[in-house]
Amino acid sequence: MDNFTFYTPTRYIFGRGAEDKAGTLSAELLGRKVMIVIGGGSVVRSGLLGRVEESLKGAGVEYVILKGVQPNPTDDLVYVGIEEARRESVSGILAVGGGSVIDTAKAIALGAIYDGDFWDFYSGAAVPQKALPVGVVLTIPAAGSEGSGNSVITRRDGMLKLGTRTDSVLRPKFALMNPELTFTLPPEQTAAGIADMMAHIFERYMSPTRDVQLTDRLSEGLLKAIIEEAPKVMANPTDYQARANIMWAGTLAHNGVCGTGRVEDWTSHAMEHELSALYNVTHGAGLAVIIPAWVTYMADVAPEKPAELARNVFNVNIPDDRAAALACAAALCEFFASIGLPTTMRELGINNPDVPLLVERLHAVKGHQFGGYRLLDPAATTAIYTLAL
Ligand code: NZQ
Ligand code: ZN
Repeated sequence: MDNFTFYTPTRYIFGRGAEDKAGTLSAELLGRKVMIVIGGGSVVRSGLLGRVEESLKGAGVEYVILKGVQPNPTDDLVYVGIEEARRESVSGILAVGGGSVIDTAKAIALGAIYDGDFWDFYSGAAVPQKALPVGVVLTIPAAGSEGSGNSVITRRDGMLKLGTRTDSVLRPKFALMNPELTFTLPPEQTAAGIADMMAHIFERYMSPTRDVQLTDRLSEGLLKAIIEEAPKVMANPTDYQARANIMWAGTLAHNGVCGTGRVEDWTSHAMEHELSALYNVTHGAGLAVIIPAWVTYMADVAPEKPAELARNVFNVNIPDDRAAALACAAALCEFFASIGLPTTMRELGINNPDVPLLVERLHAVKGHQFGGYRLLDPAATTAIYTLAL
């Protein structure tokens, strides 16, 4: 096991009515005036925004509202938010929504108190040192941004989808998590969220680091629980207990605990980010396409960890690593298809993907070789995108 620092200061309030704490916790942790950030309107239709506003008023917290965050959020609304946050002198940002809303809130929190362009933190030109405090009312278990130190934004100019990560600065101060808020999710968003949280575990499990039995077994346990609960939430969207298990799994999948003490991979995410940047597909659905292709490729290159996953999560009883890894890819495809997800680019709606362009853009961002489990060069990523067709 490698040495590590694990810093996760987020205060999680979990269960029915959690959103009613928005006022008191904002007063305590975000300050006297917040900017509420929301998406395209689901929180207005569900009545959640109104309840959050009442809670803030009750606690004497002033607020302004920034609406209109789109899935795969872009920089243009971040600039609008930064201007408004400065004009209104807000002391904190309250994200009410999913990963796209939270990531936009984090970007505004960084940019509002930075002299330069907030994009510096995403392009790698600067490392975040400070940000306004961010709080979260979560409405979709998926990206894990409610507990992560990450934010992912797409720059419209060139459609560059890039992330920044600083645990000490960007982890939210609190996350209010009421599973009932997820009852209204459309099935395709529920399923995509499940694939995303599985991918967050997968990217950490696929590690070259040895002697990490604890994090391996934690990861496998989380994956098994997700696979067990997923059919329940798909069949019955108002199953509170199943929704609760999936919601907390989404946080544990990405708050870093599964990565402690080991090198993480993150190649599937980098490859998916190019898909969602170029073709604007849902992040989790894109991962359901990329991950089985990655596993199939690894069956010939480094089958050990996919084979371990196959045996310990999918109960595959095959001694040969390559054959077990291929069984892992098949089991993943079968599971994703069972909850209505695509497993090929065609099913994802990308009929004529420009593989050379995807590969060129990917390596322009990540360098000629990248990846924690095994280094991928352009020949490897071309092969994986091709397997995903
Ligand atoms: O915009 P509204 O109207 O709110 O609708 C949203 C949106 O259309 C809808 N939705 C959310 N909660 C709902 C609901 N509809 C009905 N009822 C509810 N309770 O769902 C749609 C998707 O929302 P979005 O926030 O985009 O989903 P998600 O949480 O999957 O976030 C995806 C973004 O997060 C990034 C992804 O790349 C993508 O841009 N990621 C962020 C990470 C991080 N910060 O740590 C890590 C991830 O790997 C990921 O890259
Ligand atoms: Zn993800």
